[in-house]
Amino acid sequence: MNITTVETGIILIVDDNPNNLQILSDTLIDTGWKILFAINGESAIAQAEYACPDLILLDVVMPGMDGFTTCDRLKSNPQTCDIPIIFMTALSDTVDKIQGFSLGAVDYITKPFEQEEVIARVKTHLKIRNLTKQQQIQNQQLRAEIGERLAVQAKLQMLTQDLEQRVEERTSQLSQTLHNLHQAQVSLVQREKMSALGELVAGIAHEINNPVNFILGNLSHASEYTQSFIDLLNLYQEYYPQPVAEIVNKLAEIDLDYLIDDFPAIISSMHKGTKRMAQMIHALRYFSCRDDSIAQPIDIHEGIDSILLILQYRLQANPERPEIQVIKEYENLPLVTCFLAPLNQVFMNIFINAIDAIEEVFFNNDLALSHYQGQIRIRTNFNEQYSVVTIQIADNGIGMTPEVKQRLSEPMFTTKPIGKGTGLGLSISRQIIEEKHKGNLWFRSEVGEGTEFWIEIPIVRN
Ligand SMILES: Nc1ncnc2c1ncn2[C@@H]1O[C@H](COP(=O)(O)OP(=O)(O)OP(=O)(O)O)[C@@H](O)[C@H]1O
Ligand SMILES: [Mg+2]
Repeated sequence: MNITTVETGIILIVDDNPNNLQILSDTLIDTGWKILFAINGESAIAQAEYACPDLILLDVVMPGMDGFTTCDRLKSNPQTCDIPIIFMTALSDTVDKIQGFSLGAVDYITKPFEQEEVIARVKTHLKIRNLTKQQQIQNQQLRAEIGERLAVQAKLQMLTQDLEQRVEERTSQLSQTLHNLHQAQVSLVQREKMSALGELVAGIAHEINNPVNFILGNLSHASEYTQSFIDLLNLYQEYYPQPVAEIVNKLAEIDLDYLIDDFPAIISSMHKGTKRMAQMIHALRYFSCRDDSIAQPIDIHEGIDSILLILQYRLQANPERPEIQVIKEYENLPLVTCFLAPLNQVFMNIFINAIDAIEEVFFNNDLALSHYQGQIRIRTNFNEQYSVVTIQIADNGIGMTPEVKQRLSEPMFTTKPIGKGTGLGLSISRQIIEEKHKGNLWFRSEVGEGTEFWIEIPIVRN
């Protein structure tokens, strides 16, 4: 019979009967499979170990080691346990087929052999065997691939972690750099602002100071002299009640009584005005004090008052709104060692912001705000236990929306029109209080209620 098979394989036939071996050999000769023979269990096991057949046809009844024992030994040997075993039994043999299957056999063929059946069964089991082998190889490859992938994945994960860490480090470095840059910018602008403005103000204040003091000093003499003239005139009038016509005409022309009455009042208002100018000059010189490198003991109230005096022009009434009220609730404060010019700048920034916020109320309400009174309340307090001075500056201006509050930390954030605000006032103030004075600056603000700033300065700094 000419049989072509697609499966390749090595088949080990185990039988003690040479006839059977011959018959099977004849049957399988044309299949192209390689046939090996063994005539007992021992040699079957030895050949199986040596040649690794793809299938074993194993006789059950054999002298010495029978088929079942041989099968058991093959199955318990790791080298041979995967080889499929087909038992061969004679129809007349009374064997327990179930035992064979439980030992690991895959099939039975009966003697006398049906040639086609033998080939068909062998072919089927070879196919299964080959498929199983392929499967095992594929599984092995898959396992290896999975292992490789897992290794790559682990490496990737490590790289990702490393990358993430590096990105994190870089980001924090960058944000630190950005922060430093912003701080440097703030300091620069502050110094620039202070140097240009301070120089100008200090120069003008110095120039005006001498003439004003000169006027102020002479006004008291002028007042004395005037009184002397008036006294003299009164004496003349007393002793010469009938002057010549020319003097009578002149007296009527100049209204001497009115002059005598009014002149001291004029001198007094000139005195008041000049005194105010002197105070203003003092405030300006105090504000523009240039030496910000050395901390000195400062009367905080004097600082605040001088700033308020300078800002008088913005606090007073104007055509758009009435005067802004300033309420001072000062407690006794010790002198605080501070950097004068920068601290003045903080007060200036906060007061200007407060005035702007109050004016916004008028801009945002077309209706006449007859009941509204712009107010800035200043409270100071000394906490002996913690050795800190607190200055609270509250306005009842427009207040900040949650969005404005959130964006305040952005560099140069302003809600003011171009040219009016640079958005640096609060950053500069925070830097001056927190870094230069080791204090704290914080605020509370609600739309429609107003804003309150707290400045806390330790009187002793470490
Ligand atoms: N008292 C306040 N009431 C309401 N809003 C305020 C108050 N103070 C500050 N703001 C808000 O905070 C923003 C930032 O204030 P900041 O003083 O830093 O800058 P600016 O006033 O806009 O400009 P400048 O640099 O001239 O001070 C303001 O534009 C304003 O919107
Ligand atoms: Mg401001």
